[in-house]
Amino acid sequence: GVKIATIGGGSSYTPELMEGFINRYEELPISEIWLVDIEDGKEKLEKVGKMAQRMWDASPYDVKVHLTLDRREALKDADFVTTQFRVGLLDARVKDERIPLSHGMVGQETNGAGGIFKAFRTIPVILSIVEDMKELCPNAWLINFTNPAGMVTDAIIRYGEWEKVLGLCNVPVGAMMAESELIGKSQDELVYAFAGINHFHWHRVKDLQGNDVTSEIIDKMYSNDSGIPANIHDIPFFIEQLKQMNMIPCGYHRYYYRTEEMLQYMLEEYNDPNVGTRAQQVKQTEAELFELYKNPDLNYKPEQLAKRGGAHYSDAACETIASIYANKNTHIVVSTKNNGAVPDLAPDDVVEVSAYIGATGARPIAFGSFQSAERGWLQLMKNMELCVEEAAVTGDYGLALQAFTINPLIPSGETAKRVLDELLIAHKKYLPQF
Ligand code: NAD
Ligand code: G6P
Ligand code: MN
Repeated sequence: GVKIATIGGGSSYTPELMEGFINRYEELPISEIWLVDIEDGKEKLEKVGKMAQRMWDASPYDVKVHLTLDRREALKDADFVTTQFRVGLLDARVKDERIPLSHGMVGQETNGAGGIFKAFRTIPVILSIVEDMKELCPNAWLINFTNPAGMVTDAIIRYGEWEKVLGLCNVPVGAMMAESELIGKSQDELVYAFAGINHFHWHRVKDLQGNDVTSEIIDKMYSNDSGIPANIHDIPFFIEQLKQMNMIPCGYHRYYYRTEEMLQYMLEEYNDPNVGTRAQQVKQTEAELFELYKNPDLNYKPEQLAKRGGAHYSDAACETIASIYANKNTHIVVSTKNNGAVPDLAPDDVVEVSAYIGATGARPIAFGSFQSAERGWLQLMKNMELCVEEAAVTGDYGLALQAFTINPLIPSGETAKRVLDELLIAHKKYLPQF
């Protein structure tokens, strides 16, 4: 049977992953799942790991869930490795959000200065995982969910020289679910074309007759829930702008298209002692979830997990694995090497794009060139990310400053440099390269 190793197994999302595997067992016959964590996550791993085993025990399938702090034991002969770890846990995320905000800048997990520092902490760890994989499971596929998923996936290929990797995000899944409902169609009556980079992609939609229905969705998005994730405050896009581009941006574009309003909202909500930053809110949800996982009678994914922004994550992750294993050639939006699908970026850049997923991995679907506005954004953002990745590998302070300077959510100047220095000190423990 198939061996799965999940790094960051103590995540509260693990039941989501188990549910996805249980639902697909007939096409993906798993025999063992290894949940890996570190000393700091040991208690979480124990609790959610027992919960995971109960979910399998309540299913018709005989699958053993192993819990370990020994990554190498878990990786040995794995067929698929999934990653859902967070270096420094939620305390580190609070700093990523709080420090930029205290200087009047967007404080966010995958965007602005916070996103850059999440990459700095994560990339060295992922590269060491890849080194272990080369030795212990050289034929395995790596399914990366760890944020910033686009930069992490790009670094795995570019610096880890590991090609068998796909990066995943639940945002496209949520959009496809919500939009089909919005116009009263089922998902298989629509054809989606996504392109861009992780948390910075756009998409168009057609019906099966080839008619573009993007503008119909744009019109309806204004009076309805457009499927944006639970973690993003819903400030509407300017309709004139959407009509001009005739594409649907992802939820995270709000930070760029409405920076002023998003910042204002964050300054109010995150500085309210009764609310706190998103990570502080998530800590509460996480505590509630682990309270539930302790219950020895609970053997299914609890409703409360939907409060997390990553809802439907298993639909992306487990479907990708099943599609590789069973050569299904399903349409899934993944972070993968461009290979010309997005001609505005280099062929070896990792992009987030509609692709067919089968035994050989992803075959990205050609999207074509963007108009000037989106091309400008995309080239800026991708090259900003390339600076971040290189700085994460080399620890080059000047390059980190370059990335800060290019990033549209960081006004350049003395304050930017101060935020960089403060974050370097705050995260010192997780940044040996600097
Ligand atoms: P979390 O804080 O619960 O962390 C998950 C686990 O990772 C913890 O138990 C922690 O101890 C462990 N961990 C930390 N460093 C580790 C290491 N070096 N090796 C092994 N395990 C380690 O995080 P979470 O909120 O469950 O999120 C997990 C990750 O998934 C984050 O990076 C988050 O950004 C990402 N995420 C991605 C998406 C997406 O769309 N791609 C959606 C949701 C979450
Ligand atoms: C999702 C994004 C993830 C992100 C998550 C945050 O929608 O796709 O990449 O990690 O939201 O959710 P949280 O509940 O942790 O704020
Ligand atoms: Mn995501």
